[in-house]
Amino acid sequence: AHVPVICVDGPTASGKGTLASELASRLGYHYLDSGALYRITAFAAVRAGLALDVAHEHSIAKMAETLPVRFTGGQVLLGELDVTDAIRTEEAGMNASRVSALPAVRTALVALQQSFRRLPGLVADGRDMGTVIFPDAPLKVYLTASAVQRAERRHKQLISKGISAKLADLRADLEARDLRDSSRQVAPLKPAEDALLLDNSGQSIEESVAQVVQWWERKQ
Ligand code: C5P
Repeated sequence: AHVPVICVDGPTASGKGTLASELASRLGYHYLDSGALYRITAFAAVRAGLALDVAHEHSIAKMAETLPVRFTGGQVLLGELDVTDAIRTEEAGMNASRVSALPAVRTALVALQQSFRRLPGLVADGRDMGTVIFPDAPLKVYLTASAVQRAERRHKQLISKGISAKLADLRADLEARDLRDSSRQVAPLKPAEDALLLDNSGQSIEESVAQVVQWWERKQ
């Protein structure tokens, strides 16, 4: 049977993860957080003592290909190691962005990402879900929000986890990451030609979810 996929792509801290996981639970679909795979790959590479650059592209790609990763009950496991919190830091995000610019690493993660496509359906979030990983997806959403809003959301998130951070630093960080993600040679961050654009700057999560559910129902 053909398994439906909804892609949610967009820049850092645009609210993709929240929207996509909420959508998945609403529809009873599986959920793929593709960014987590890049974060885990970077984490594993750093742990193995590898610098995150082209000199180690193939070693890092090899690790990515056989990544012993499991997502269970809100936890992310790398082998026996619980990396749930470790992969969520700003540094982990920046490291993920570094390894994600290496073409061999991206290729190594394709099959793993596509294996999440199972019945009754999948909601996948990332940067290239609609352009590269699931080009035949019947619904592709490209989510944006202003840099100010995104920095504020990230700030709130960190504060709620008891991590302190400066708003200006966060904004500079996410702009640097967006620039790297959208200027890389392979699978740069950009909307798929057939993506529907959603700017959630002034929207509540509930409103964005409702909008996408409506788009999805219209496709049925
Ligand atoms: O979405 P998240 O912030 O967790 O992603 C971390 C980094 O992984 C991004 O900045 C991006 O460089 C990379 N990424 C990617 N392709 C994806 C998902 C994430 O290149 N599909």
